[in-house]
Amino acid sequence: MKHASPTPDSRLPTPIRLGVNVDHVATVRQARGTAYPDPVEAGRLAAGAGADSLTLHLREDRRHIQEHDVARLMKQTPVPVNLEMAATEPMLRLAAKARPPCCCLVPERRRELTTEGGLDVASQVQKITAACRRLRNAGITVALFVDPEPHQLAAARQTGAPHLEIHTGRYADARSITARTAELKRIARFARAAQQAGFEVHAGHGLNLDNVGPIAAIPEIVELNIGHSIVARALYLGFPAAVREMRRAMTAARTRGRPP
Ligand code: PXP
Repeated sequence: MKHASPTPDSRLPTPIRLGVNVDHVATVRQARGTAYPDPVEAGRLAAGAGADSLTLHLREDRRHIQEHDVARLMKQTPVPVNLEMAATEPMLRLAAKARPPCCCLVPERRRELTTEGGLDVASQVQKITAACRRLRNAGITVALFVDPEPHQLAAARQTGAPHLEIHTGRYADARSITARTAELKRIARFARAAQQAGFEVHAGHGLNLDNVGPIAAIPEIVELNIGHSIVARALYLGFPAAVREMRRAMTAARTRGRPP
């Protein structure tokens, strides 16, 4: 009997990718100036446990990831590397030399604990456009890390960047259900508009097992970048189990489909 060939089912949810950020493995290493724990070893374990990509943020103050980590992570892990960086001259030069497959442009303030808010693309369209062009010419796919605000989307459209990563920090830090629901709606609206404008849409920052579900359920978001909570859970469970449980939480929410 002849079997019908499988056809893509448009009712199936789009798969969602997990990018694991290994910065805080390097934070522990730098705390003692040792060679361990190694973000590359963590990256290999994460990839083996189902991470689709690995993210690292080379900050100007080199507080966690170091320059040598970038090349090692690219060479010694089997999944694409996403380099988060400020759009500064030294970083653009470094990225063009290292040529990771993806770069995410983020704002950077020296004294912040972590990235506090999205890139203000609207106030520096020319500078960001030039940075995107340089990275594109080096064969790098660029994402802009932005707050879910319509004027940032309008500005991002002028830059030529193909991907946007929505900053989910305000959602993660919301102190009331009302504030969290309002921010979730803003993120969902932005994701829809960004996809309609032709961007591939990612999200990240402050996501953990308790709050990832509603974000993973937004169908236009195709990638989440998560670091701190996975590294924290890995202290108890080990890296592979921490990655697997995050994957399960994302996939479960995606399959249930709970758009806000
Ligand atoms: N995405 C971007 C652009 C970030 O800057 C960070 C933090 O480095 C993350 C995702 C991951 O955030 P978290 O460590 O809170 O999961």
